[in-house]
Amino acid sequence: MTQQFKSVIGGVAHHLPDNVVTNSDLEKMMETSDAWIQERTGIRERRWVDTEDKTSDLGVKAVEKLLQKVELNRNEIDLLIAGTLSPDLYFPGIGSIMQKKLNLPNVGAMDIRTQCSAFPYSLATADGLARTGVYRNIVIVGAELHSPVLDKTTRGRDVAVLFGDGAAATLVKAVPLGDNESRPTAQNTVSGVIDTLLGSDGNGAGILTIKSPGLATPGFVNHDVVEKGEYFPYMEGRTVFKHAVTRMLECSSSLLKRNNITAQDIDLLVPHQANLRINDAVADRMKIPADKVFNNIQKYGNTTAATIPLCLSEAESEGKLKKGDLVLTVAFGAGFTWGANLIRW
Ligand code: ACO
Repeated sequence: MTQQFKSVIGGVAHHLPDNVVTNSDLEKMMETSDAWIQERTGIRERRWVDTEDKTSDLGVKAVEKLLQKVELNRNEIDLLIAGTLSPDLYFPGIGSIMQKKLNLPNVGAMDIRTQCSAFPYSLATADGLARTGVYRNIVIVGAELHSPVLDKTTRGRDVAVLFGDGAAATLVKAVPLGDNESRPTAQNTVSGVIDTLLGSDGNGAGILTIKSPGLATPGFVNHDVVEKGEYFPYMEGRTVFKHAVTRMLECSSSLLKRNNITAQDIDLLVPHQANLRINDAVADRMKIPADKVFNNIQKYGNTTAATIPLCLSEAESEGKLKKGDLVLTVAFGAGFTWGANLIRW
């Protein structure tokens, strides 16, 4: 019989810039208040890079920490999957830039462009490839450098207060299954990635976007774009909020249902960190108590592709995520895109 493989999470690590920017710091840049930001989003502070670090550097630092943590030799990495919406360059993606900086000769590298849903999409990709047994040690990275491209004036306050810089890296290992060994399921205690559900709706593309530079703009970038500040992120916040709650609930419920479990079987819900009120609404409607939900948006804001692995990394080091736990991750982001993973830790 052909050798079968399952994919397991071999470790998670994160890197955050040292520079803390509090809500009070933002009050000095724009008309906003600590009270508004905390009440509407849950965010108290975020990290904004104050060095020369680019997105790929943040990602590289997260991977270096991961390698140290899991004691993996870099030569054993055979694929790099990088999620970001804030790449160093228009092209190529940060995957190949990180491949060079990490000194991983000729290792395959790709970028996943699903914004805040990068983790579910990256894990689905890694899981599929690990199950073939061709790739044994796949590193997934979520890295974002938002701060340089936020409009830090009152005009951009609805978006600028939300986002933070940071990165997190996850090792996905292909583990051979013994002759009578079961795959991980929601019913057994075998560790590994159980299932993933992904979705998208391009009707939302213009609702949360950076319009320019881009080839849809005459001249790629032009004076009009610069004058209107269209190179800053644009978001219709209330619409995004409603879609986020709806899709995160829908997607979680479908994933639980097709694995024959209910929300009460979940040990830890790790939602994307866009707004604490979104996560409270999702957890509330799923009837998952607060002690089974991991949030850290209060400290880091929305680090987009990095939020879920950053939560997993912190949850594990705080003892809130233990071997054998059944974890549900769920995200919603620009595109619109969404996705959820069911993992036995
Ligand atoms: N400080 C003070 N006042 C503000 C700020 C601010 N930073 N931002 C907006 N306001 C004002 C508005 O101008 C408005 O004033 P008005 O009533 O005089 O017109 C008022 O506050 C209310 O504005 P709303 O936009 O209705 O506020 P809301 O409660 O919806 O909160 C927010 C806005 C936080 C952006 C929310 O809509 C949200 O979190 N949306 C979803 C974000 C999200 O999920 N993004 C997806 C992931 S991101 C990704 O994929 C890249």
